[in-house]
Amino acid sequence: MRGGYAGRIPVVEIQQEASVTDSTASSLSETDVGQRRPLLEVRDLTKSFGGLRAVDHCSFQVERGTITGLIGPNGAGKTTVFNLMTGFIPPDSGRILLDGQDIGHLRPDQIFARGLCRTFQIPREHGTMSVLENLMLVPPGQSGEHWWNALLRPGLVRAEEARHLDKAREVLEYLQLAHVQHEYAANLSGGQKKLLEMGRMLMADPQIILLDEPAAGVNRTLLQSIVQNIQTLSRERGITFLLIEHDMNMVMSLCDPVIVMSEGRKLAEGAPDAVRNDPAVLEAYLGGQYAAAAG
Ligand SMILES: Nc1ncnc2c1ncn2[C@@H]1O[C@H](COP(=O)(O)OP(=O)(O)OP(=O)(O)O)[C@@H](O)[C@H]1O
Ligand SMILES: [Mg+2]
Repeated sequence: MRGGYAGRIPVVEIQQEASVTDSTASSLSETDVGQRRPLLEVRDLTKSFGGLRAVDHCSFQVERGTITGLIGPNGAGKTTVFNLMTGFIPPDSGRILLDGQDIGHLRPDQIFARGLCRTFQIPREHGTMSVLENLMLVPPGQSGEHWWNALLRPGLVRAEEARHLDKAREVLEYLQLAHVQHEYAANLSGGQKKLLEMGRMLMADPQIILLDEPAAGVNRTLLQSIVQNIQTLSRERGITFLLIEHDMNMVMSLCDPVIVMSEGRKLAEGAPDAVRNDPAVLEAYLGGQYAAAAG
């Protein structure tokens, strides 16, 4: 795995991208500017499905090096935001910026290659391939994908495969999945499939990982291992996380800040404790439950 940003998690006062152009910013180096810019940002993002506005002029930022929580009642639009950020569906309007670059028009594979990786609410492993093979598939732009390379430059293809194999084994070791590396992915438990999803992302040297409900359907032991992996990857590799989760214990202990969505918009944002006690947030959750109970 890439160690390029190991141990470098800039904890700097974050500045809005626009503000770096003012006169006080003229002394900042390009590196300063890069580190102060949010890693991921959505601006005024909107997406409707028929008459339903799933994401409604939503704006928020994910700062570099954070484990940011994205919470909200069912149907708030969280997964749709992930689908928009990762290019799976196009926005109706608004912008999505990765490290200041507009990625709103890119394909999922192009976004993935830029280091923005995601898991799905329901894991999508290749069930009839082994765990190891699932990881070997991941790195983008492999020379072996082109038949002429296999024919004309077999040495290059073999060397690349050997590198990917080393990396896959390192990732499996790291996630404590080495003992199931030759198992069909379909035979893994729900929690192991979630770890495999994380492994697939690590093969791509991510800058930021979007996790959609990593705790759902996972037993306590594996949940602990997922939480530890997130913390270690954040601390040691400087990977940024944006995490959708309904398990409030996990969110409160792992995430800072926490962004709350309701009805397609950002409702609140702040430290876990502040968000937990925000009357508007309680209303959004409890109001929904009352409505469900009444309906
Ligand atoms: N492809 C789609 N077609 C039609 N409606 C959709 C589609 N995807 C999402 N929706 C609707 O958009 C709204 C937001 O859905 P979304 O899945 O983003 O919510 P969520 O916050 O992830 O909810 P949950 O916590 O239950 O996963 C919901 O009303 C959902 O039914
Ligand atoms: Mg969802």
